[in-house]
Amino acid sequence: MNIIDQLRIGIGHDTHCFGLGSFLMIGGVRIEYSRCLLGHSDADVLLHAISDALLGAAGLGDIGEMFADTDPANRNIDSAKILKSICEKIYAENWMIVNLDTIIFAEKPKISPYKEQIKNRIAEITGIDSFRVNVKAKTGEKVGIIGREEAISAECAALICKKKLLYISGIFVTALYFR
Ligand code: CDP
Ligand code: ZN
Repeated sequence: MNIIDQLRIGIGHDTHCFGLGSFLMIGGVRIEYSRCLLGHSDADVLLHAISDALLGAAGLGDIGEMFADTDPANRNIDSAKILKSICEKIYAENWMIVNLDTIIFAEKPKISPYKEQIKNRIAEITGIDSFRVNVKAKTGEKVGIIGREEAISAECAALICKKKLLYISGIFVTALYFR
């Protein structure tokens, strides 16, 4: 298999507006706050961006095609479930995650105290080592929908790599091509 067929990159972006509530779900971590994020699911803006980045890298469309926001079954769905099932799908196609680089765009709350927890939770949900996950945060410098504290956005870049089947001494061994 040619090297250009072994690596794929994907990007994901998502936004959810603030509403009345007392906590946010960001990267699978519950953050106590004076408001919530609105959405058909649990509105986990970061897990949605990661999900779309992985689907994009694998050429599998986007999150809405798999989990329609018009489907009552997806009402208040835990976004960790969504991301897990997307991972199962891409792993079944012999893809491995090389790394996930993420940004949370939020004027408030302060994300830095939760960064490590978010990183570990994303690693847990996707089943990868936490060194393959990076979490960054940015304010909106008080302008735009982020800066005016109307919404939180998130972005993710994902690199995935195809597992290679090597034929060694008469037995098939699944090995990572780039080790
Ligand atoms: O300095 P610069 O304008 O590039 O970034 P900033 O948006 O002012 O963020 C400065 C620092 O605050 C970064 O280290 C972010 O990780 C952190 N931050 C945070 O912890 N929570 C946020 N909601 C936004 C930024
Ligand atoms: Zn979303």
